[in-house]
Amino acid sequence: MKTKNILALSLILFAVKFGVISCGEKEIHTTPQLGKDKIEDVIAAMTSDEKIGLTVGDGKFLPAVESKNIEQGTGIIIANQNSKMVIPRLSIFSSALSDGPSGLNRDPLPPGATEYTYTTAWPTSTCLAATWNLEMINKVGAAFGNEVLEYDYDVVLMPALNIHRNPMCGRNFEYYSEDPLLSGKLSAAMVNGLQSNGIGATLKHFLANNQETNRRTYNAVISQRALREIYLRGFEIAVKESAPACIMTSYNKLNGFYTAENPELLQDIVRGEWGYKGTFMTDFDGYGSAVAKVRAGNNMLMGGNMDEVNELTAALKNKTLDENTLDKNLVYNLQLKLSSPRAKGYKPSMIPDLETHAKIAAEAASEGVVLLKNENNTLPLKGEKTVALFGKIGYYLIEAGTGSGGIRSNKYAVSVNEGLKSAGFKVLDELEKNYVDFIEKTKKENLVPPYFDNPKMRADNGITNDQAPPHFAKRLVAFSKEQPLSAKEIENYESKSDVAVITLGRSGGENYENGYLPITQVELDLVRNVCTAFHASGKKVVVVLNVGGVWETASWRDFPDAILLAWQPGQEGGNVVAEILKGRVNPSGKLPDSFPLKYEDLPSAKTFPGEPAENPVNSFYNEGIYVGYRYFDSFNVPTAYEFGFGLSYTSFEYSDLILSSNQFSDKIEVKVTVKNTGEVAGKEIAQLYLSAPGDVVEKPVQELKGFAKTKLLQPGESQQLTFELNALSLASFQSGISSWIADKGDYEVRIGASSKDIRLKANFSLPKEMVVEKVNDVLFPNFYMNELSRK
Ligand code: BGC
Repeated sequence: MKTKNILALSLILFAVKFGVISCGEKEIHTTPQLGKDKIEDVIAAMTSDEKIGLTVGDGKFLPAVESKNIEQGTGIIIANQNSKMVIPRLSIFSSALSDGPSGLNRDPLPPGATEYTYTTAWPTSTCLAATWNLEMINKVGAAFGNEVLEYDYDVVLMPALNIHRNPMCGRNFEYYSEDPLLSGKLSAAMVNGLQSNGIGATLKHFLANNQETNRRTYNAVISQRALREIYLRGFEIAVKESAPACIMTSYNKLNGFYTAENPELLQDIVRGEWGYKGTFMTDFDGYGSAVAKVRAGNNMLMGGNMDEVNELTAALKNKTLDENTLDKNLVYNLQLKLSSPRAKGYKPSMIPDLETHAKIAAEAASEGVVLLKNENNTLPLKGEKTVALFGKIGYYLIEAGTGSGGIRSNKYAVSVNEGLKSAGFKVLDELEKNYVDFIEKTKKENLVPPYFDNPKMRADNGITNDQAPPHFAKRLVAFSKEQPLSAKEIENYESKSDVAVITLGRSGGENYENGYLPITQVELDLVRNVCTAFHASGKKVVVVLNVGGVWETASWRDFPDAILLAWQPGQEGGNVVAEILKGRVNPSGKLPDSFPLKYEDLPSAKTFPGEPAENPVNSFYNEGIYVGYRYFDSFNVPTAYEFGFGLSYTSFEYSDLILSSNQFSDKIEVKVTVKNTGEVAGKEIAQLYLSAPGDVVEKPVQELKGFAKTKLLQPGESQQLTFELNALSLASFQSGISSWIADKGDYEVRIGASSKDIRLKANFSLPKEMVVEKVNDVLFPNFYMNELSRK
C-alpha cells in the first residue's frame, strides 16, 4: 500500500475512533450513541477501561460529567440529578438506583433545611403479605413506582423475597412469608405494579440470604430439593410472572460458592431454565472475586470498588478474562438504561401525589392487620369512650424496620394515640403525658439502649460511649426499655377510663438477628397487671402488636381479651388500628407465617444461624423442605397461631367445592363458594392446600397451592372463587434425576380458612406418574446432609 493511502486510512481510523469526521465546515458524529445506535456498536466503541468502569459500580470510577455541563442538541441523552453521564462520548449515563421496600428510601430531610419532598412509608412486606391480596399489592406497587419515577430514579432495589426461615432474621420485615408460593405471587404483583411506571424493579437477595449473621460470608448448605421447592421457587414464580428488570445476587455463599459468582445459578437456572432477559447486579460491596462474578454473568458489580477495577484490569491483561465476556455482560446493563423512562426523555416532576399514596398505604395496611384473638366479641369497641393507652409504642409508631429496607424520608408516622383521637376516642391524658414525657426523656438522654450491650453490635454500629449515635434517632425509642408502672398507678388509670389498649412493639433490621426479641419482664408485668386491674372492674383489654414479623405470644396471650397484630404498618398505622378498633374497618389479614408456641419449636432453631455458633461459617438447612407449616403440620407440632390464620368481625361459610375433573390430565379447575354469614361486611381469604401421594419421594402433609381473597362481601352475600392446579402444582423435586415428578395416586384438595381450619375436601387422581419437568442437575450441597425426614 502506498504511504499516501496508509496515511489517509489512519486519518479515517483516527476520526472514527474519536468520533468525528470533518467534512468541510460540518462535523459528522460517527461515534455510536446509546439510544441511537445498536448496543453492540456502542460497546464496540468503548475502551477496555470504560468497559471495566461501567461494569464496576455502573460507572462510579469513570470521570463523570454532570448533565448540566453537557451541551444540548448533540444527540446526547440528558441525565439529571440522580444519574450522571459516565461516558458522555457515547451518551452512556449511570442508572439511578434507590432502596425499598418499606418506601423509596431517600436521604431524610437535611438538618436546617425547610423545603423537602417526602416519600410514602408503605406497610412493610410482612404486613402486605398478610393481605394475601394481589390486586392490593399491585396497587401499592403502582403508587410506589410512581414515586420512583417522579423522584428521578430508574430502578428500585425491591421487592425482597427471601424466605422467612427463622424469625430471628432482622430483615424479615422486608420479606414476605415462609411460603414460596405466597412470596412469589406477591412479588410478581409488586413488580408488575412498580414496573407499570416504566421504571425497573429488582428481586433480591438471590439466594438464601435468610440470616444476617455473617451475611457477607456464610455458606448456606441446602439440598437440591429444598432449593428447588422452597428457596428458588418464589424467585422462579416472580421471574416468570413479572419479568423484573433486575435481580440482585446475595452476599452469602450457597453450597460452597458465592451466589454472585455461580454460573449454575445465574446462567443454567435463571437465564437457561427461566428464560430471564434482565440484568443481574451484585449486592453492595460483597466479597469474592470480581472476575468470578463477571464470568458467572453478573452484569453490574455494585456498589463497586477500586480493587474490583484493578482485578478486572489485570485479568484482561493476563488473559484470564476475555474482553468478549465483558461485552456480553454490558449488553444487559445498557438494555436496562435504554428501557428507562429517562432514556425515553421523561422529565420527572419531583411532586408525586403523596396524599393519594397515603390513602393507598392506609387501605393496604388495613387489609394486612390480623385479628389474633377476640374473646366475647371485645372488638369492635362498643361505646367505650376513654381509652387508657399503655406502652410507649402507642405514642411512637414503628412504621418500619431499620437499614436499607427501612424508610427515612417519610413526613410522618401516625401513632396509635393520634389515630385513636382522629377516630373520635378520648385518650386518657394523664397517661398520655406520662408516656410522652418518658419518650422525651429517652430522646434527651440519648443513651445507647441496653439491647446494644453486646460488643459486636456496638462495634457494628460505631458506638464508642454511652451516647447513641445519630443513626439511632429512628430506633432509639423502639429499642429503649419500656417504662415500668406499679399496680397502684395502673389502678388509678383504670378508674378514669373505659378500656385499656396496650401497644407492644419491636424494631429490627439489616445486619442483626433482632427479629424475635422476646417479651421483657417489664412488658409482661404491664400486660398482666393491666389485665388484672381492668378485668376486676369488668373492663376489656386489647393488645396491639407493632412488630415486624413472627413474635412470641404464648406467654401472655391468655391475659388480654383481644389481640390485634398491626405489624410495622407504614405511616398510616395508627389510623388503621383505630379504624379497626372502632369497627369502621373489618380486619381481613391472615398470617403469612406460622407463629410457634416457643422459639425452640421451630425446625431451624437447632441450626440457626450456623456453625460454629460464635462465628458461623456454614449454616445447615437440615430441616430441608420442612419450613414453616410444612414442618408443624407434618410433625404434629402445635403452634400458637397457624399459617393462614386470622379472625374477622363476621363469619364465612364455605360450600360447593367443584373440581373440573376427578382425574388429572394437564390441569384442574377448582371452584368454591364463600358466603358472609355474619352481620357486618367483610373479606375472606380462602386457601387451597394439596395433600399429595408420597410414594416416590416423601411429601409434607399438605402444601399451599392457591389462594384467593373475596371482594368486600355484604352480610348474606356470596362469591365463587376459582383456583387452578397445573402439573407443577402436583409435583415434587426428585434430586437423583433432577426432575419434578407428580406421583400417581390420589390427591386431596383441601379448602381452608387457614392451614388448620380446613372447611371442604375433594379428591382427584393421577393415573400414571408424570415427569413434569427435567432441569439442570446443579447446585449440589458441598456437605453430606442429614435432612429431616418423616420416614
Ligand atoms: C443491602 C441491599 C441494598 C443495598 C444498597 C445492601 O447492604 O443488602 O438490600 O439494596 O445494600 O443499599
